[in-house]
Amino acid sequence: MVELLPSILSADFAHLAEEVAAASRGGGTVIHVDVMDGHFVPNITLGPPVVKSLRKVTKLPLDCHLMIDNPNDFIEAFADAGASWVSVHCEACPHLHRSLELIAHHGMKPGVVLNPATRVELITEILPMVHHVLIMSVNPGFGGQQFIPFSLGKVRRLVELRAEMELDFRIEIDGGVAHDTVEAIVQAGAELLVAGNAVFGAGHPEHDARALLELARLAEKG
Ligand code: DX5
Ligand code: ZN
Repeated sequence: MVELLPSILSADFAHLAEEVAAASRGGGTVIHVDVMDGHFVPNITLGPPVVKSLRKVTKLPLDCHLMIDNPNDFIEAFADAGASWVSVHCEACPHLHRSLELIAHHGMKPGVVLNPATRVELITEILPMVHHVLIMSVNPGFGGQQFIPFSLGKVRRLVELRAEMELDFRIEIDGGVAHDTVEAIVQAGAELLVAGNAVFGAGHPEHDARALLELARLAEKG
């Protein structure tokens, strides 16, 4: 079943509670929180204090996408702040196995993220450890970028691997998910659809979340 994960990166940060509430009325079921450090990616966003505030204004799971170097140093802080899912980039984790263990140890759902240029096969061994795999379909750092089409092949490869290995991790996609790309994305097998610009960009998050989710559900029925 496809789910919509509104990414607050494109929301109005001065009115986060209202923005999150609107996106959830529109059908968003998990809130995607983009954490950037200005090192791993060329942008800076937010950290545990904002997660802590968000935790107070929504009951939805908070999916924290860590685009930071040395994520292990911050896992405890995100757990304390109330993060529900935490994903770390394969490219930022020389000891990925340890990072995923740490996330699970703190009671959160571990996820692994792959940049567009990173091959799916690099994470085969740790797939049994993850709750979700996040395929980046843009280079991380900014909202509103164009979807990279070869990401669809990576989603299909993950679907195959999951069946071969008899696993049940969920497949998430992030970047350029919009009305004109969502059909192909869902058909490829992605189930957790992150969308920032397509939900918040025009200032009508409830309406735009609902419209995008409807398209996704139509594509799912095939
Ligand atoms: C980009 C972030 C995304 C971003 C997606 O680095 O990881 O979550 O919000 O934005 P859109 O949906 O606008 O491409
Ligand atoms: Zn993200």
